[in-house]
Amino acid sequence: MAVNNDVRHYLRPGTLQLPALPPLSLYLHLPWCLKKCPYCDFNSHERRTGVDARAQQGRYVDALLADLEASLPLVWGRPVYSVFIGGGTPSLFEPDDIDRLIAGVRARLPLEPMCEITLEANPGTFERERFAAFRAAGVTRLSVGVQSFHDRHLKALGRVHDGAQARAALQEAARAFDTFNLDLMYALPGQTLAELEQDLRTALDFAPPHLSIYHLTIEPNTVFAKFPPRLPDEDTAWDMLDRITALTADAGLARYEVSAYARPGHRCVHNLNYWEFGDYLGLGAGAHGKLSFPHRIVRQVRHRQPERYMEQALAGDAVAQAHEVARAELPLEFMLNALRLKDGFSLTDYTERTGMPPSSIASALQQAEQSGWLQREGAWIRPTARGFDFLSDLQQLFLPEG
Ligand SMILES: C[S@@+](CC[C@H](N)C(=O)[O-])C[C@H]1O[C@@H](n2cnc3c(N)ncnc32)[C@H](O)[C@@H]1O
Ligand code: SF4
Repeated sequence: MAVNNDVRHYLRPGTLQLPALPPLSLYLHLPWCLKKCPYCDFNSHERRTGVDARAQQGRYVDALLADLEASLPLVWGRPVYSVFIGGGTPSLFEPDDIDRLIAGVRARLPLEPMCEITLEANPGTFERERFAAFRAAGVTRLSVGVQSFHDRHLKALGRVHDGAQARAALQEAARAFDTFNLDLMYALPGQTLAELEQDLRTALDFAPPHLSIYHLTIEPNTVFAKFPPRLPDEDTAWDMLDRITALTADAGLARYEVSAYARPGHRCVHNLNYWEFGDYLGLGAGAHGKLSFPHRIVRQVRHRQPERYMEQALAGDAVAQAHEVARAELPLEFMLNALRLKDGFSLTDYTERTGMPPSSIASALQQAEQSGWLQREGAWIRPTARGFDFLSDLQQLFLPEG
């Protein structure tokens, strides 16, 4: 057995005392896209020409299932609350492959009866019947990557679809699924406040049960980092966020996380588990995972290159790196997630998820309260509106000392 999947190694005594293990989710990464977008730093790859896509996808599903098989000892007997099939562009995979993947997961892991199973879909990568087929394969929620409805902005973002294809995809998503997410980005190259407002109004016309709206960021090692586009200034970006907050609220969507808005009953179970510092097994090229044991929390990363990943996973050895999170790092790691939530967290959540005593964050909490960034109600701790606006400063208060 590969050392990274040796459960005895992870069950040995250690310095943490976790009173219970958190809920477990499963992330499956499908790494291919039609074209690499110039702003994207996700582990996504253009498929080389001449490659037989069907055969490659079939082999990739085999690799994911072999990886899962090898990882089972680390999560033995734990029910799974959500599955997220992300990418890359998972909607490039044939529904048959997705069906085999989900059936293979179900055969190996106990999924909760109402388990949320999300698949990321890009407009322009599928036809009508595909959506119904994904649904029939067991997908319960679609996440549609729209980004904008303006053809000019979509072009500047290097997207393969236009606004009309984005609309068509959303119509289909609404028809085929009881719940779906729409991804938008704002502060795009050359975007005005009025154009952002149009994008948002168009998005809201589809009555999305869930909306994710991200400020476009220029990530290192992307084409945009090398050739920076002209972006709206900071004041305009803040004005845009104000419009987003107002219009989403009018439409009955509550902002429950920095970038996520949902109707009652439609919050994303999978992402909530990340933000609540739950566990997740991450399978697929470059996928990250976090797993708790009674005396330690372990982070894993899989091999990044799809070809290498497939070889390694099929040999039962897909983990490229694994490390135990140091005690001193846990307060910040918890806050990088929990403080993104509007509802914050309780001190009991903190001790349960990190195995650390409340005293480990007492002075940082006090400082944050004095700065007006956090408010307390009994054992419950929430970021204030100001805290949300200065989130990274607030989170830095929990950096390890020394
Ligand atoms: C992992 S991507 C994959 C989704 C899908 N492949 C797509 O592009 O539509 C998930 C979302 O992250 C957001 N995203 C990706 N790169 C970003 C960046 N540099 N700044 C802000 N948001 C970004 C986009 O909204 C995207 O829909
Ligand atoms: S389609 Fe999505 S994952 Fe693929 S390169 Fe573009 S942003 Fe990245």
